[in-house]
Amino acid sequence: MSIEEAVTESAPIFPPPERFQQGEVPVPHINSLEQYKELHEESVKNPTAFWGRVAKELLHWYRPFTQVNYGGFVDGDVQWFSDGQLNVAYNCVDRHAFANPDKVAIIWESDEPGQGEKITYRQLYQEVGKFANVLKKYKVRKGDTVCIYMPMVPEAAYAMLACARIGAVHSVVFAGFSADALRDRIQDAGCKILVTADQGKRGGKSIGLKVIADQALADCPSIEKVIVYQRTGDISVPFSSPRDVWWHEEVDNQSPVCPAETMNAEDPLFMLYTSGSTGKPKGVVHTTAGYLLGATATVKYIFDLHENDRFGCMADVGWITGHSYIVYGPLSNGITTVIFESIPTYPTPSRYWQLIDDHQLTQFYTAPTAIRALRRLGDEHVEPYKLDSLRVLGSVGEPINPEAWLWYHKVIGRERCAIVDTYWQTETGSIIVTPLPGAIATKPGSATLPFFGIDLAVLDPTTGQELLGNDVTGVLAIRQPFPSIARTVYDNHIRYLDTYMKPYHKYYFTGDGVTRDADGYYWIRGRVDDVINVSGHRLSTAEIESALILHPACAEAAVVGINDDVTGQAIVCFASLKSHHADETAITKAFVAQIRTHIGPFATPKRIVITPELPKTRSGKIMRRILRKVAGQEVTLADLEDEDGLRNKLGDLSTLADPSIVPTLIKKVAGRQ
Ligand code: WTA
Repeated sequence: MSIEEAVTESAPIFPPPERFQQGEVPVPHINSLEQYKELHEESVKNPTAFWGRVAKELLHWYRPFTQVNYGGFVDGDVQWFSDGQLNVAYNCVDRHAFANPDKVAIIWESDEPGQGEKITYRQLYQEVGKFANVLKKYKVRKGDTVCIYMPMVPEAAYAMLACARIGAVHSVVFAGFSADALRDRIQDAGCKILVTADQGKRGGKSIGLKVIADQALADCPSIEKVIVYQRTGDISVPFSSPRDVWWHEEVDNQSPVCPAETMNAEDPLFMLYTSGSTGKPKGVVHTTAGYLLGATATVKYIFDLHENDRFGCMADVGWITGHSYIVYGPLSNGITTVIFESIPTYPTPSRYWQLIDDHQLTQFYTAPTAIRALRRLGDEHVEPYKLDSLRVLGSVGEPINPEAWLWYHKVIGRERCAIVDTYWQTETGSIIVTPLPGAIATKPGSATLPFFGIDLAVLDPTTGQELLGNDVTGVLAIRQPFPSIARTVYDNHIRYLDTYMKPYHKYYFTGDGVTRDADGYYWIRGRVDDVINVSGHRLSTAEIESALILHPACAEAAVVGINDDVTGQAIVCFASLKSHHADETAITKAFVAQIRTHIGPFATPKRIVITPELPKTRSGKIMRRILRKVAGQEVTLADLEDEDGLRNKLGDLSTLADPSIVPTLIKKVAGRQ
C-alpha cells in the first residue's frame, strides 16, 4: 500500500503498547494523550515558560540564562538562552563521568563481530580530554573549524566532543563522500585541522580514507595538520611530514584533563553540509544550547529513555541522525549509546538482531530503506532472536510505507514495542513530528503529531495561504522558532534566509509536502523541491547535474528521482552529448564514474539515459516534470499509440521547443532505441 492509499483509506490505529501501563517496563515519561496535549499546548503558547523549565531541568549551565528566546523567522535572527553559558562536552561527558564513572557510555560494535569494545564514561572523559589537548597543541582555538572524516569508530565521537570541549566548530564529512566532495567542504569551511583514519572498515571491505583525504588536500591550503587514526594498520599510509601525525602517538603524551571552555549559548557547535536545490551544498550551522537541548529532550521523550537504557541508532555520524542520536542526545542523557561500524547484512542478514540481543538494546533506530531490504531477505533471519529487551523502535530519513511499518511492528517489535516514525531534517537539528511511545496512538505511514515546541502549518504551495482545519494537503511549514533550529548557513546568511524564510513570509519552509488527515495526523509526502532521498541519503539533483556537466563529453544533463521499492527513491540521469559517441555503454560507465568521483559511491545513479536532446520549453527551460514521468515509466510505449492518452499523462506538450523528443525518450527508457 502506498502512503497515498494509506491516508485515504481509513488507516489502522495502534494504541501505545499495553505493557507500558502494566509495570512490566518503566512507566513512560509522557503517559497519556492528555498529558501530551497539555504540554504541547503550553510549549507553543508559552515557549518561554516551557523551554525555560526544560532547559534548566535537562542541561547543566555554568551561568543560568535570564532570557529564553529572541528573534524569529521574519528576520532570521533566532536566539535561545542567549546570555546563558555552558559546555556541550561537560553535559555529555563530565557530569556523567563524575556521577557514574563505570557506566558504559559507548558500545562499539566493530565491523567483524566480537572485536568491538565498551567505553565507560570515565574512559570517555579521558579520551575526549586527551584529544582536546592534542587539538590545543596544534593551536586550535574557540571558533576554529575542524573537519572530521572518519569511519564509525569511537574516536569519531571523541573528536566531536573534543571540539565541543574547547569551543572549536566541527564539520563532520560522511566517509562515503569522494575526495572532490571532501575538498569542497573543507574549502568552504576553511578548516584548520583534518581528523581522519588510515582506512575505514565496512561489510568486510576496507576504504582508503587517508588516500582519499590526500587527494582532497592537494587543494586545501587552510589545513595545517592531519591527525590520522590507525583503524586497520593494514597498509602503509603515505605520510607527508610534518603535516600528518598519528592519533595514537599524539594522545599518548597528553593529559586526560582538559578544562571545558565556557561557551555562550549561541556560539556555534558544529556545521554539517547538506544538499539543497542548487549545486553547492550548504553548511548548516547549529549552536550550543538550543541544539543540545533539542537533541537531549527529543531522545528522552520520543525514545522514552530511562537510566539503564542501551540505545542503538544505526545511522552514520556523518549525517545529522548520527550527530543527534548517536552522540549528543544519548550521551547528554547519560545512557549507553551504540556506534555500529558495519552494515545490516554483514556477515549475515541477522546482524542487527544479533546486535540487539547481544547488547540487550532497549531502543533501536534505523531507516526505512534498511527495514525494507531486511524484510525482503526473509523472516527466517529474525525468528531465532529474542528481541525481548526492546521497547521502542524508530524510523527516520524518508517516508516509511505501511507494509514496512507493519513488518517492523510485528516481526521485530513482536507487537510489544512502540513504533516511532520520526520526521525531521538536518536544519531542525532534532525530531519535530513523531509519536510519543506512551501517549500517541500510531497509524502506519504517518509521523503523527508535532513534538513539544513545534507549531506546524500546512500551506497552499502557490498562494502561501495557511490551510486551516483537518483533511488538507499542502507544504509543511513551521510558525515559530524552537531551540534546535539551524541559525544560519555557514558564511552565507542570505542563502539561509532565501532557502527557508523567504519562500513563505513569517514561516520556516521545510521543503516537504504533507497531508493533515481527518484526525489531525501528519503524513509526510516527500520533497517538493529538487532534493531526492536515496536510502535516506539526501541528494540534490542540481549537484549531480553539475558533476555530469564537468565531464568533457556531456553537453547537458537533467537528473530526476524515481520511486524505488527498497531505496525509496533512485537516481535517473538524462544526458545529451557534445558530439556523437558510438559506444554508449562506455560513455554511460564514464558518467557513472564521474558522479562517484565528484560526490561519492552512495550517489550512483540507477540509470543513465543518453538522449539527443532534453525536453525544453521554447525559452529553454528543461521540463523535469516530463522526465520524471518518463523515467518512472508512468508513460510507456503503448501510450505512444494514443495521442490523447499521452497528453493526459504528460500534460500539454505544445509548449515544448521540439515535441518529437518525447517519443524518443520513451523509446530510450524502454530500451527500444
Ligand atoms: C525526509 C534526516 C518522511 C524529508 C533526519 C526531510 C522524512 C529530509 C522522514 C531530511 C520521515 C526525514 N518521514 N520523510 N520520518 N525523516 N525525512 O536532512 O524529506 O538528511 O526533508 O535529515 O528527509 O533529510 P536530512
